[in-house]
Amino acid sequence: MSALASRLIRWQVRHGRHDLPWQGTRDPYRIWLSEVMLQQTQVATVIPYYERFLARFPDVKSLAGAQLDDVLALWSGLGYYSRARNLHAAAQAVAESNGGRFPRTSKTLAALPGVGRSTAAAIAVFAFGEREAILDGNVKRVLARHFAVRGDPGEKQVENRLWKLAEAQVPEKDVERYTQALMDLGAGVCTRARPACARCPLRASCEARSQGKVEAYPRPRPRKPVPLRKTAMLLLLREGEVLLEKRSPVGLWGGLWCFPEISPRADPRDYCRRRLGARLASAERLPLLRHGFTHFTLNITPVVCQVASASPCASEPGQIWLPLEEAAGAAVPAPVRKLLNSLRAV
Ligand code: ADE
Repeated sequence: MSALASRLIRWQVRHGRHDLPWQGTRDPYRIWLSEVMLQQTQVATVIPYYERFLARFPDVKSLAGAQLDDVLALWSGLGYYSRARNLHAAAQAVAESNGGRFPRTSKTLAALPGVGRSTAAAIAVFAFGEREAILDGNVKRVLARHFAVRGDPGEKQVENRLWKLAEAQVPEKDVERYTQALMDLGAGVCTRARPACARCPLRASCEARSQGKVEAYPRPRPRKPVPLRKTAMLLLLREGEVLLEKRSPVGLWGGLWCFPEISPRADPRDYCRRRLGARLASAERLPLLRHGFTHFTLNITPVVCQVASASPCASEPGQIWLPLEEAAGAAVPAPVRKLLNSLRAV
């Protein structure tokens, strides 16, 4: 076993995490769900979502039989909703082929929608004890530092080099603990900013540290300026109900329920008259809301619109008037949830 692996394994016993809700099971469904939720989200945020999701969908069959809308509602606020859509599609694929039996190797796991090489490896390690290397963002950082790997890990060549290094370290036994150790070290010790090298079990052999340049690895990817987009969201209210519309199944917030949007320069009264045949009693702007996506920032101007109750009021296909309390439980993205809560508070 490499010195790196044995140090990590010993360190994990004393200093690693042992009580996360997805530990202590070999159920591939539960492990798969946790790994997908953890792809872009931190442990502390994931835990309550993970528990709610499992309470509602305890196995792959129940998830496969669910409505996508109910899956998205449980994902509401977690972001990167293609994960939920892929999860649902993968559950249906597992239920249809194999009679609900989960794939049992990293190779077959990687064929599921939303399961990349590292996620497949993590599931295969934790559920089946397969000897496979993982390489998520945290592990890339640990290895880039320990072996002083130059270059941007977002580049294929650098990534391939890191995969080779990751594969070379995987021990013959205790692969579960070794893998958990890498994750724990990346999350709690070998952090991007201000790493805690004094507590690191690999400090004696870390090349970045011996160069005195730990924070220079891995080289950050060149950041393009993030463009700004602007929109106005119409919070249309009528007799205790609010209008939501379902977004197209693909693309940003695909399949989620949102407020109707217009250009911030457009007049909400025109929208109401033309699209709903309704008259507005009032339209009031709320403070600007900012929402960050990976590729752009969205500036949202929320406009609370009271529809005159005497006026006739339609909705278009894909739109629905919902009581405010019910809307809060729907599959809505985080800013919409925030605005719905602010409406309920008044
Ligand atoms: N990040 C990704 N997978 C994880 C896991 N199994 N435990 C803790 N953090 C993780």
